[in-house]
Amino acid sequence: MAAVQEMARLQRMLFEVEREFVRTATTFIPRVGEVELKYLLCQHVWESAGHARFIRERGREMSGFGKGDSVCESYRTVFEEAIRVDDPLVGLAAFYQILKPALLSAYRHYLEATHHLADWPSRKLVEEFIVDEKRHLNEIEPYLEGVEAGESGERFKGALDSLGGWLGERESTPLPEDFKWIGKEIPYRHPETCNRGDYPVCSSAYGYDPAEFPIVRSWMEDPKTDARVIRLTIYIWLMMELDAVDYLATVFYDTPDASFDMHFDLARHLWDESRHSAFGYKQLPKFGVDLSKLEHSLELYNILIHMSPPERYAMMTMEFEASSFPTKAIIMDRVRELNDFEADTLLAFDRNDEQQHVRYGHRWLPEIMKLFGEEGPVDAFVESAKARFNELAKTHGTKTPHSLPADERITGNTLLKIAGVA
Ligand SMILES: [Fe+2]
Ligand SMILES: [Fe+2]
Repeated sequence: MAAVQEMARLQRMLFEVEREFVRTATTFIPRVGEVELKYLLCQHVWESAGHARFIRERGREMSGFGKGDSVCESYRTVFEEAIRVDDPLVGLAAFYQILKPALLSAYRHYLEATHHLADWPSRKLVEEFIVDEKRHLNEIEPYLEGVEAGESGERFKGALDSLGGWLGERESTPLPEDFKWIGKEIPYRHPETCNRGDYPVCSSAYGYDPAEFPIVRSWMEDPKTDARVIRLTIYIWLMMELDAVDYLATVFYDTPDASFDMHFDLARHLWDESRHSAFGYKQLPKFGVDLSKLEHSLELYNILIHMSPPERYAMMTMEFEASSFPTKAIIMDRVRELNDFEADTLLAFDRNDEQQHVRYGHRWLPEIMKLFGEEGPVDAFVESAKARFNELAKTHGTKTPHSLPADERITGNTLLKIAGVA
């Protein structure tokens, strides 16, 4: 069985690299400002989680894959090192110019090393992953033009070379004696606020005054509101789900001992939220909304980042998501009046995804609580998280001033004009 065991061992290593990529690449999501780059990273994280899942499934058919989901310390150290950069683009350059190409080489090595007929089931997977990895490198390229991993990149390269590549398939070069692992000395911290690049920002997009806020709460369920205004409002709501992308992205890194199944579902959740945000991002300009005048709300991230990972996840799934259904149902009915098939479709998929997210919440909240030693009943935990959220909102909630004056930014009144009802 030595031949099988050897290939299973390589699969285990590939699984661990993909897994650790998911846990650490997510830290860049709140740090980068470009909206479409955030979306792309969510997509890559989801696809990488998929690679890990299929490798694990195949690996478990083979003798020697090993039990459990944990990642070995040597991989963890390299990835930990690569996220500790001041400029997130430099970090991404390290990921995409050094760590991911090394993964591509590792997959190629697997193909060469295995028997094409005997190990055909693995071969099919690896061939597909090679196509994905090459595509990932192409897709990221426009965002990293002119960016180099530079000096820090040399360090990560050195670290990886000391392993002889992810699979030890190359000769290893020992690290210089004075090599210092920054990751072992400085703990990583998520940013206090999330980056939105050149986009204008504010604390919240939700309010009651149509001269101040783009999402006017009282309009959404008011039968007198024109359906075209409702459609614009829900697209803004969806686009603002980018905040969920940014705060959910922080949970992966913070739960290094989570099962892979949990991270797999979180990766799906993350990618779903990025697509929901993209629904608004892609549709709004078609209706004449100038996105450079639409402020992004940062409040939820700014508050949640001060809460523990289980509290963050509890607020997201058990409060924000679970309580959004009644309003969204009314909105879906109103939008249907417009005979806008695409809008109906987007909202239907959003609803379906959100139902799944609440299911994830029920499945994983007790597990994340356990990881943080929270042993009481889940309901009580959710209640105390809500109370703490409200308390923290006083300190961190309304701290982001409007980037734009009220007469320049998109508000409810602007939407009336765009919809042609004012
Ligand atoms: Fe969503
Ligand atoms: Fe959701």
